[in-house]
Amino acid sequence: MSIDVIVVGLGFGADFAPIYQAHPDVGRVAVVDADPDRTAAVADRLGIADRFASLEEALAADGWDAVHLLTPVRFHAEQVQQVLRSGRHCASAVPMATTLDDLDALIAAQDESGRNYMMMETAVYSREFFHAKRLLDDGRLGRLSYFKGDHLQNLDGFPEYWRGYPPMHYVTHALSPALALADTRAESVRCLGSSRLTPEHVGVAGDGFGTEAGLFKLAGDEALVANVTMSFFQLGRSYLEGFSVYGDQGALEWPQLEGGPMKEFRMAPLTEARRGREVTAVDVEPSGAPELLPAAIRRFTSGGHGGSHPYLVHEFVSSIVEDRAPRVDARTAATWTAPGICAHQSALQGGAEVQVPDYGTR
Ligand SMILES: NC(=O)c1ccc[n+]([C@@H]2O[C@H](COP(=O)([O-])OP(=O)(O)OC[C@H]3O[C@@H](n4cnc5c(N)ncnc54)[C@H](O)[C@@H]3O)[C@@H](O)[C@H]2O)c1
Repeated sequence: MSIDVIVVGLGFGADFAPIYQAHPDVGRVAVVDADPDRTAAVADRLGIADRFASLEEALAADGWDAVHLLTPVRFHAEQVQQVLRSGRHCASAVPMATTLDDLDALIAAQDESGRNYMMMETAVYSREFFHAKRLLDDGRLGRLSYFKGDHLQNLDGFPEYWRGYPPMHYVTHALSPALALADTRAESVRCLGSSRLTPEHVGVAGDGFGTEAGLFKLAGDEALVANVTMSFFQLGRSYLEGFSVYGDQGALEWPQLEGGPMKEFRMAPLTEARRGREVTAVDVEPSGAPELLPAAIRRFTSGGHGGSHPYLVHEFVSSIVEDRAPRVDARTAATWTAPGICAHQSALQGGAEVQVPDYGTR
């Protein structure tokens, strides 16, 4: 079986169209962008004949099995529902949505349509995540004990719609690795805002903060916590987007500077020769898991976001071909997105504890 895919939004989407073109289970690929010049430029460069002027025009066309949306965040909730209602499968860039009501609406749309929805979360398909998962599965971390996540990125000069964007509304890259590794959900959050937005940074979301620092309590008896810092404005610090995971026998820490080596820690047994257990640290450069991919798209693992893009495409396409739910279906996506929505609520309430809805799976 081969499926035909429409890629919508050709900023970030221009990275994904060639992966679909190369995937052995994909037939035709079409592109759509609200900016006709951009559509023409990308389609010409990639040799794509099928182009549409709008999502509506694309959905009115016959054929086409699936749509991958990479449009600005404010369109995700409505466009995902349009795609699912048209009878197509839908992949969407993060975040799933920015209100709890919209998360519920997308779960309902997925269930009612009987089609696949997948949130394309790069963090859980990065080479660093594959390495962390291997360490955990091999017992080298021991029992999980703590998580950290950071996404620090200056959004000055980004498209206008990012102005004043609540950092925690984009929490998935920094939090989902913890939730995926612990195989659980965030039960509640306490979050403080740091650095009140200056007037030139306030956007449509109203007053808020440049940085938001949250403590997420994970569900389960282990009393696990994920400590996540999100910052988009007013922080004089270079880009960082990653996670660290700690167990009672070892740990994997994200580098201080993006692109540097991760540090893997191993703790030795206690000896009489010293106080405290010895911990060694080694540099690691994770290689991912390209053997999981069709040979034709392995070359794309050299791309951005930890080489995650071809894995995301492969999982979305395979889930359709194999007629099964994708790894990050609507309930999992809501489980990873809602904690950030609740964290921003907590920050607006001065750090009050906010319960995170339970979407029933993760
Ligand atoms: N690591 C990640 O997962 C990651 C990284 C970057 C961006 N993103 C997400 O990808 C999405 C796109 O990001 P970007 O940086 O490319 O944004 P962008 O604003 O730079 O580009 C968006 C593109 O979509 C087009 N567009 C806007 N509205 C449209 C509509 N209604 N129909 C069709 N096309 C439309 C625009 O013309 C533009 O070409 C965002 O949701 C962002 O959050 C995710």
